[in-house]
Amino acid sequence: MNSKPFYITTPIYYVNDRPHIGHVYTTTIADIIARYHRLRGEDVFFLTGTDEHAAKVIDTARERGVSPIEWADRNANEFKNTFKRLDISNDDFIRTTEERHKKKVREYVEKLIKAGDVYLGEFSGWYDAGQEEYVADLKAKEYNYISPINKKPLIEKKEKNYFFRLSKYQADLEALIQGKTVNGQTFAVKPDARSNEVLGRIKEGLNDVPISRTGAGGWGISIPGHDEHSVYVWIDALFNYISTVDSPDRRKYWPAQVHLIAKDILWFHAVIWPALLMALNEPLPNLVYAHSFWISEGQKMSKSLGNFVDLEKIDQYVQTFSLDALRWFLAASGPLSTNDSDFAEAKFIEVYNMDLANDFGNLLNRVSGLISKNFAGHIPDLGPLTPDEETIIEVARNLNPTVQNLIDQVQVNEAVRSVMLLVQKVNKYLETQAPWKVAKTDLPRAGTILYTATECLRLASVLLEPVMPAKCRAVLEILGAEGSAPEWGGLKSGTVLKTHGPLFPRFEVEKKSY
Ligand code: MSP
Repeated sequence: MNSKPFYITTPIYYVNDRPHIGHVYTTTIADIIARYHRLRGEDVFFLTGTDEHAAKVIDTARERGVSPIEWADRNANEFKNTFKRLDISNDDFIRTTEERHKKKVREYVEKLIKAGDVYLGEFSGWYDAGQEEYVADLKAKEYNYISPINKKPLIEKKEKNYFFRLSKYQADLEALIQGKTVNGQTFAVKPDARSNEVLGRIKEGLNDVPISRTGAGGWGISIPGHDEHSVYVWIDALFNYISTVDSPDRRKYWPAQVHLIAKDILWFHAVIWPALLMALNEPLPNLVYAHSFWISEGQKMSKSLGNFVDLEKIDQYVQTFSLDALRWFLAASGPLSTNDSDFAEAKFIEVYNMDLANDFGNLLNRVSGLISKNFAGHIPDLGPLTPDEETIIEVARNLNPTVQNLIDQVQVNEAVRSVMLLVQKVNKYLETQAPWKVAKTDLPRAGTILYTATECLRLASVLLEPVMPAKCRAVLEILGAEGSAPEWGGLKSGTVLKTHGPLFPRFEVEKKSY
């Protein structure tokens, strides 16, 4: 067994609100990648969690009449339960309010202060007290020094803060993002358009950044020996990726292979995070991959437009089409590249009917129907091959390496599509070979055709199990091939197929809209 460690993370989500399709998407894609790596026999560690020390948690908690930690507990549980329901196979769930994380963050900050990369400085700027945030000088001027949100004057505020010497890492970051090796390390940002974006901004020049705040009222991680300062929420949050595995039994997982995020939080992950790690003398993660956004029914998701894909909506889709159908849609049609994707009901139904009902589900129905009719339900033997089988077998043999290679590049859409392409090819092959006709004159030849088609279905099910765990396991059970390998030839002739209902019943739009 190859027990190479593989560590993948998602962003840790704000507990200000409940999970929605965006959070579910990133976590599902990370889950799929983790499962593909487990299929290879690797020693996988998959982390997700919640980011809890934001000032807005205090505000929301106050509005609801509960304490910040009660509010955080409530929503962290929503995230945990949602991920459980959606068959997410995370190995741990980190909450930044947990002592194990806080203790480590204090250690990292102390180390940075000792190394001289974090220093006490003074920050002055325009402050929006209602929003608890600084407004950049140019913006403040544009606003006429009035908060655009609460219409109160901005305050000119001076604060003593701890600063991180980001400027010191300008040259190293530039080189890394350009693909160069720095101190024996590499660090990739993908897709390429995103790394170009980051590089452009780095070249404009990097200033040191404040990494502490005062006046957080005890909500946050205090800086050792300077209790009035708490670690700025973003710095606190980024450290989760290492704090969770910073113990003797888990150290082997660091550095992470993939930090999966979306484009909204690229700067922190592609610039601040590697710089902090260099300052800590820690190895750098291999890849930060930033996907794009889901919009919904053609527009940006918004609560007021009523097109928000929230938990209730997600549950409706799961109930109507099955969880695995939702996972398939996310994997095959999601915004993994630089374009946003539209979560639209009509599109979902189209993808469901085409890929799952017509292609995948139908292949199972066809082979199992024909095998029960002509071979009393026993999987037939593979006899002499014609060039038609040879072409299909060639595709099948190359499938696992193709899929794994795409997974290594986080190209989940293409990986899963390449498997469905084999399924489509096999459906066409069945149509041209017409084994139902051949069976009348040459039963062994019909057997060869059906073995070939069923073996491809088995292989496709093994290779789609990371995406659709329950449905693919069901197919493998029907074929008596649970736990078989993603290589050609795993299907055992003579095995009796189990009876089954339709895997993905066709969804008729006229009948009902849910
Ligand atoms: N807490 C920070 C992250 C800290 S990581 C060290 C945060 N949290 S968040 O709750 O706002 O989550 C942002 C992430 O949620 C995005 O990067 C993305 O992974 C996911 N999505 C949120 N909305 C999304 C869409 N509309 N579409 C796709 N994913 C999006 O930022």
